[in-house]
Amino acid sequence: MGIYARYLLPRLTDLTMSRKLLLPYRQRVIGGAAGRVLEIGIGSGLNLPLYGDAVEEVIGVDVSPELLAMAERATKRRGLRVRLLEGSAEHLPSNVANGSVDTVIVTWALCSIPDVAAALVEAHRVLRPNGSLRFVEHGRSPDASVAWWQDHLTPLWRRCSGGCHLNRKTDDLLRSAGFTLTHLATGYARGHVLWRSCMRDRRNPMADVVPARP
Ligand SMILES: C[S@@+](CC[C@H](N)C(=O)[O-])C[C@H]1O[C@@H](n2cnc3c(N)ncnc32)[C@H](O)[C@@H]1O
Repeated sequence: MGIYARYLLPRLTDLTMSRKLLLPYRQRVIGGAAGRVLEIGIGSGLNLPLYGDAVEEVIGVDVSPELLAMAERATKRRGLRVRLLEGSAEHLPSNVANGSVDTVIVTWALCSIPDVAAALVEAHRVLRPNGSLRFVEHGRSPDASVAWWQDHLTPLWRRCSGGCHLNRKTDDLLRSAGFTLTHLATGYARGHVLWRSCMRDRRNPMADVVPARP
């Protein structure tokens, strides 16, 4: 791993993700979390101070040991049980059992996870029936001209941003992994051409009979 990926990228990720602009999105997503929570791509732990009393435990998974070390420093909040696990969302650590999680949280990580379809199947597997996945992402614009730029910028952008794709259609990915969308709010963020979506997704209570898994 190069110096950029090891030393600079984690700090840049923490810095850019700490922007105040993102806080209201985080609050909306984290506000509905309850019970045993799995946060995939937890990064530097910027959501940890936002979890409320309805949350019993947060299990945070990330591939980056550098970002997990920063998240470790954010775990000091009294009363919140946090377990940080180094691992990939595509193959969740074996101690996260089938149907053992009440809420899956993802904030701006579905854009970066290399095999996002596999990661969503894993999230579906560990959610209990009637559990929910709540997330905020930037994704593919419905406007053809913006989507054209997103497609053409992504190959370069991925290389300097830790694998981030500008053009993923997150809602389609979720449906393909067997989720039913119960609420979806989309729009352009202030000052950005990137298409942001803030969505909440509830696992289909009939998930066992939903065949739409990749
Ligand atoms: C843009 S950052 C977002 C971090 C955090 N969720 C936040 O809101 O600040 C994307 C995160 O996804 C993580 N990530 C990338 N690929 C991953 C994978 N395969 N499994 C788990 N995490 C991954 C990165 O290490 C990084 O922490």
